[in-house]
Amino acid sequence: MTDKRTALVSGNWKMHENHFEALKLVQELAALVRAAALPEGREVSIHPPFTSIRTVQTAVETDHLPIALGAQNCHHEDRGAFTGEVSAEMLAKLNVAYVITGHSERRTHCGETDVDVRRKVDAILAHGMHPVICVGETLDERVAGDAAHRVREQVSAALSGRSGEVVGGVVVAYEPIWAIGTGETASVDDAEQMCATIREEVGRLAGAGAAAAVRVQYGGSVTPESAGALLAAPNVDGLLVGGASLDAERFVAIVRARA
Ligand code: PGA
Repeated sequence: MTDKRTALVSGNWKMHENHFEALKLVQELAALVRAAALPEGREVSIHPPFTSIRTVQTAVETDHLPIALGAQNCHHEDRGAFTGEVSAEMLAKLNVAYVITGHSERRTHCGETDVDVRRKVDAILAHGMHPVICVGETLDERVAGDAAHRVREQVSAALSGRSGEVVGGVVVAYEPIWAIGTGETASVDDAEQMCATIREEVGRLAGAGAAAAVRVQYGGSVTPESAGALLAAPNVDGLLVGGASLDAERFVAIVRARA
């Protein structure tokens, strides 16, 4: 499709790769990315653990790689007595462009709520970065026919009351929880349908301009084999890739997948 938004393919490294391994992975990515131009209308971000961000930043900037730097989380305050936390302000100083927030693993393991996610989105935007806001339903919610309602609720909690211009610059990642790290990918139809629902909710909250501009990724067990068909879906504007992003060849195959 010629009129689609620039697709963002993001590698979420989760708690993998110490900084030596991260350097090796980014060097492998560099070699593959340099071998040929990225497909038109495609952007890439990688999201290492905090301890590797500086290392990856140096590699990306020194080599002028066409890869944006990302993080996986942040705290909503700029600074203070929050032992173990890292602020959006600190990430912005490392030239981080995209910050994942509300990932289901953080919602599940760290008790993050929709209210926490909203505060983090505030902080990410305040420091000029783009939030990648993860939303998605559990298997029980899907089986109960509650998936669209739950996803709309998460989108609204993060984005209500913001201007169309601001909302148009965010990324929403639809990640059905039952598809993360399980090898189960949502069907292209399911992914397309929920991404369209998210866009509709964005329109309701912030207007038609925001709905047309917002980028909606799909995430959950994406592979080089499934990437092309997902990227071809009209309302899917990119992919959030976990496991497959730890293998440079597989990740670059996803980045280059033909829509
Ligand atoms: P996965 O992870 O690709 O390993 O399923 C996706 C994610 O959690 O962002």
